[in-house]
Amino acid sequence: MDQRKPFIAGNWKMNLSLDESVSLVRAIADSIHDLEGVDVLVGPPFTSLHPVKQAIADAGIYLAAQNMHWESSGAYTGEISPSMLIETGCTHVILGHSERRHIFGETDEWVDRKAKSAAKVGLTPIVCVGETIEEREKERTEEVIESQLRGSLKNFREKGALPSSFLLAYEPVWAIGTGQTATPEQAQEVHHFIRQWLTQGFGTKTAEVVRILYGGSVKPDNIKDLMSMADVDGVLVGGASLKADSFIPIIRFGF
Ligand code: PGA
Repeated sequence: MDQRKPFIAGNWKMNLSLDESVSLVRAIADSIHDLEGVDVLVGPPFTSLHPVKQAIADAGIYLAAQNMHWESSGAYTGEISPSMLIETGCTHVILGHSERRHIFGETDEWVDRKAKSAAKVGLTPIVCVGETIEEREKERTEEVIESQLRGSLKNFREKGALPSSFLLAYEPVWAIGTGQTATPEQAQEVHHFIRQWLTQGFGTKTAEVVRILYGGSVKPDNIKDLMSMADVDGVLVGGASLKADSFIPIIRFGF
């Protein structure tokens, strides 16, 4: 059974100038024009979203913001609303990334509000969850993931429905930017757990189509092994998505 198309996403974080962003997305667009079996997404900083969208033109690359506020407008200095992201050409938004959670104090409750508001305007959320090394060592991984999922998808759980385009990303905090990737087996174990949780909350049909991405030190030399796992449907790439030389081989891992 493989109805889940591989999804390769690049999270550029707070990196790349306007020129660098546009050159990179052009290089990606050139490299995928003959490629059909994979979905590709880039997540530039807010200031590059519009020029990157223009450079994408009709190349079929999805565009994500890395965060947003849940309100549609108002006195929220420094924040960006879901409809502003739509206006800029975004198709997706990354929510609850571990850097937002750990550096900026983002809570499950915020992620839940944001995911609800994003879906309302037609933005697809990519909701991130992941345990710290201390939590893994204390064998609390599943408990932590379950609690993050329950809190971050509360609205959807209450309705018992999750859009089939929704994306989840399992990103163990200890693997992000450290060069220490989860083994394919470790990733599969948690992805399988997440899929079971989806089945319980939303039914088999939804659980079978919702894609679960792995993130944390994904590189050209580990992508194939990660993607060979039954429940790993794609990847969310940080460092290696900043250069065409490393991101393009990741996108083309199976082609
Ligand atoms: P990394 O980051 O690939 O640099 O580990 C992944 C992420 O934070 O999404």
